Amino acid sequence: MFFDLRPKENRRDLYGRDRELEELARLVESGSWVVVVGRRMTGKTSLVKTFAREFGGAYVNLTGVRGLEGLVEALHSQAGFKLRELTLDLKLLRPRGLGP
Ligand SMILES: Nc1ncnc2c1ncn2[C@@H]1O[C@H](COP(=O)(O)OP(=O)(O)OP(=O)(O)O)[C@@H](O)[C@H]1O
Ligand SMILES: [Mg+2]
Repeated sequence: MFFDLRPKENRRDLYGRDRELEELARLVESGSWVVVVGRRMTGKTSLVKTFAREFGGAYVNLTGVRGLEGLVEALHSQAGFKLRELTLDLKLLRPRGLGP
């Protein structure tokens, strides 16, 4: 398992990332948007996949996905979510003080 080239998906196989997992959980639970960045092949995908599995989330790869229909299809095929309801909340943008 250690030499498996695929990203790791559970804590048992993910070596030395307990602190990062806990930090990710803390940030997500606080409602923050989190970006995981790092050099190539340092375990970013492994961290996020393990987090999703261990903390009741879902991992969805949106590479190449276009539009709302693509998003809905990806959520369904990769995470099993079915769209029951979709609410689109548009707020009007009114420029103030715009003029010649
Ligand atoms: N902490 C770790 N414990 C065990 N294996 C790891 C760990 N971090 C990375 N790996 C292994 O290293 C390889 C790269 O991991 P992963 O794909 O998660 O990295 P990445 O940062 O997402 O890579 P990329 O930059 O290509 O997207 C995989 O084989 C993965 O299993
Ligand atoms: Mg990756």
